[in-house]
Amino acid sequence: MQKLVVEGGHPLQGTVPISGAKNAALPLLAATLLAPGEHKLENVPGLADVSMMLSLLGRLGCPSLWNGKLRLETSRIFFSEAPHDLVRKMRASVLVLGPLLARTGHALVSLPGGCAIGVRPIDQHLKGLEALGCRFELSDGYVHGRVDRLRGADIQLDVPTVGGTENILMAAVLAEGHTTLRNAAAEPEIEDLVRFLRSLGARIEGEGSSTLEIDGVTSLRPSAAGYRIMPDRIEAGTYLVAGAITGGKVTCIDTDPVHLDTTIDALRRAGCEVRVDGNAVTVERTGPLRPVDIVTRPHPGFPTDMQAQLTALLTLAQGTSTITETIFENRFMHVAELHRMGADIRVQSNTAVVQGVVGLKGAAVMATDLRASAGLVLAALAARGSSEILRLHHLDRGYEALVPKLQGIGAHICRVDSEARAPRAELHTGMSATA
Ligand code: UD1
Repeated sequence: MQKLVVEGGHPLQGTVPISGAKNAALPLLAATLLAPGEHKLENVPGLADVSMMLSLLGRLGCPSLWNGKLRLETSRIFFSEAPHDLVRKMRASVLVLGPLLARTGHALVSLPGGCAIGVRPIDQHLKGLEALGCRFELSDGYVHGRVDRLRGADIQLDVPTVGGTENILMAAVLAEGHTTLRNAAAEPEIEDLVRFLRSLGARIEGEGSSTLEIDGVTSLRPSAAGYRIMPDRIEAGTYLVAGAITGGKVTCIDTDPVHLDTTIDALRRAGCEVRVDGNAVTVERTGPLRPVDIVTRPHPGFPTDMQAQLTALLTLAQGTSTITETIFENRFMHVAELHRMGADIRVQSNTAVVQGVVGLKGAAVMATDLRASAGLVLAALAARGSSEILRLHHLDRGYEALVPKLQGIGAHICRVDSEARAPRAELHTGMSATA
């Protein structure tokens, strides 16, 4: 077991390269099942979740070689089961449901069950796939799906679920006839999935809007030429907040500023200067932070995956901010840990009322989920004194090379075994620390 040790209070300065998007990579990897052959993918982020998805594809019979670029061989599928031990660790494993049904006609996928940030059912995934002709039985914690022939349908989702939209879309591209998917999620990662599927020969329109129109095709070809995964907008947003919360100046490169507009808007409202130059975004804060009111919404609204990071930032604003979470229940678990660092936050139903304090102080805190962990790292970077962040497996799921990237912009951070104390010298930028 390892922990992060952070010596806070140092303004961060410099440039951070942004990795490929986790939430685009996972559905794209699942989508390779739809087209037998060798796929090549670029800009695949080195994350525990990606390794886990590759393990799952390996268990289905699809080996991969990851060596800068990713090569994945999906010519044959020997098994159609996503077992509990993998789905339990990574909910996105359910994204193989639609592709397996489309490719093999059956799938056995463990139900994801409860999750740290809420109930997260898959009823909408099943509703959409049923409309396309699939039949499901639930037993022993597994959903067992079968289909003889997928047929296009008119589907209206009750909630614009990201994973549900992806699962239904991946099945519909190989269905006979036309599918209209209404109240679909419009997140940029779904646009990336559409572009990828189109590169395989799928016929889809409407990405980025709430209605997807899909004309089924009989087969797809693999992405032999190599498909480049979009940049991670949540990773970029997290580093921008790192610059803002420490009163520094940070530039994120290799990113897509269009996907960052709500985060950039929130940072500007909080009193930061934000400049966009091509694929680079720079945040700079020289004055005090101002309070901001934020409501998380499906895209194009403010992303729930940036909520914990903004909560950390606003703990230091001069005044009272409100943060309302409308996507997931139980997504304020970082609040109790932020209290340990001196934050003043009251949670009333799904709103956190954040009364800014003059400063945070370092503490030992426990990460509870991926983005909550990111919020705690940000708070620790701004806090006076030393902090320890435990349970790093959450961060490893979603932030490639977090420690070296933060060290590269001047953070005093290192990763050590949980039992060990960090030698003071190692806390300085660029010193040896396991990444
Ligand atoms: C994806 C992202 C996650 C992000 C979330 C919301 C990936 C791998 N993960 O998760 O980082 O926080 O979108 O932007 O891309 N719901 C139902 N029925 C369903 C499915 C979902 O009621 O069948 C509800 C959920 O309980 C939740 C809401 O819809 O309240 C949004 O969930 P969803 O969009 O499905 O999130 P994920 O795809 O799991």
